[in-house]
Amino acid sequence: MTTRILTGITTTGTPHLGNYAGAIRPAIVASRAADADSFYFLADYHALIKCDDPQRIQRSRLEIAATWLACGLDVDRATFYRQSDIPEIPELTWLLTCVAGKGLLNRAHAYKASVDKNVELGEDPDAGVTMGLFSYPVLMAADILMFNAHKVPVGRDQIQHVEMARDIGQRFNHLFGQGKELFTLPEAVIEEGVATLPGLDGRKMSKSYDNTIPLFGSAKQLKDAIARIVTDSKLPGEAKDPDNSYLFTLYQAFASAAQQAEFRAELVAGLGWGDAKQRLFQLLDRELGEARERYHALIEKPAELEDILLAGAAKARKVATPFLGELREAVGLRSFRAQVQAGDGSKKKAAKSARFVSFREEDGSFRFRLLDAAGEQLLLSKCFADGKSAGQVSKRLQSGEALDLREQGEGFALWLDAECIAESPAFADATACQAAIQRLREALAPAE
Ligand code: TRP
Repeated sequence: MTTRILTGITTTGTPHLGNYAGAIRPAIVASRAADADSFYFLADYHALIKCDDPQRIQRSRLEIAATWLACGLDVDRATFYRQSDIPEIPELTWLLTCVAGKGLLNRAHAYKASVDKNVELGEDPDAGVTMGLFSYPVLMAADILMFNAHKVPVGRDQIQHVEMARDIGQRFNHLFGQGKELFTLPEAVIEEGVATLPGLDGRKMSKSYDNTIPLFGSAKQLKDAIARIVTDSKLPGEAKDPDNSYLFTLYQAFASAAQQAEFRAELVAGLGWGDAKQRLFQLLDRELGEARERYHALIEKPAELEDILLAGAAKARKVATPFLGELREAVGLRSFRAQVQAGDGSKKKAAKSARFVSFREEDGSFRFRLLDAAGEQLLLSKCFADGKSAGQVSKRLQSGEALDLREQGEGFALWLDAECIAESPAFADATACQAAIQRLREALAPAE
């Protein structure tokens, strides 16, 4: 079985070395595993919550997209898209908003921190708090649940959000799943082995501390940043302690075991910090040089990036569009046309609750399913060019006309006017298939 791995990258900044070692590199490695089905996306709706500078939003989306591609993400294997290209996400956000407890969201760390700060300053508790900030976890739950992700690699600060996605998904399953798991309940994954890089001053590398090393700056920018790494004041010739050196920690994150051992020995033997910085520069320049070139080439062709991301969105919507159709069904947003007329209720129990579910494919065509009383699929129609033709066919099926059912494999096909218009799923065996045919006949028998 494949494991679906999904993660989002908020598009508010320019990727730095810490992002690369802590998130980008491990995610790309994970996406290459044989059993991995990776969904990586630019969380640009989330970015709007934190940033109201359109230039910065746009620049960051472009830079982050180029970074992931330059670092080797294979978009044929992984699904790589912008959140804002998937209209199903905000729609699902609303469905989830309607089941998410306000009390649950009151407990979200980011919202609480804002409120606490306001209270401390004697302000109105909700001063400056937008509904975007408050609902941030619901949007994130939609990101995750939309694609039924099993694993969500995130930083520690995001664990609570993944747990909220579980809570909200579970509640939705309970309310609307009729015993079925509509949503897979996701798990947060914290990559323990992954390096958390120290920044230039030894605190965690982070934009908010202004202590980052740019990932794809010029060689000069890289050199200048490395020159600013804080070291102790030991002179060349004096033994250095690698285990108490940020410079060594940074080196370690990118070096082979042999390189690490050699560098360690040199430091202990008194290598000067200036030379040590030169070594780190060479290592990083080698690790990132090719990717840097690819990055700049991509940044210069934004139209190509646009195409890649739109293709990614189309791939993602192949999953999202039909699934959202099911969810709309589940909550009761159903087509009137597809409604099976209720019988008089006395003996046609199955007919009473079997139903047609129509939905739109991503290419704009229309299809329907016929579900039995228990919600199991009996038929999936072919694609129709418009909703009207789909509706006419489903209406004819309910008109009492004799059904032309033809067995095929462990299932059956339904023919109308010398054309196969719908097929059943494959059933476990012939008995299950016959039972399904029986349920289908009952469901479509005209009410008396
Ligand atoms: N909130 C995440 C962060 O700031 C980004 C994100 C948005 C995300 N949607 C997601 C991460 C879904 C994982 C899954 O890091």
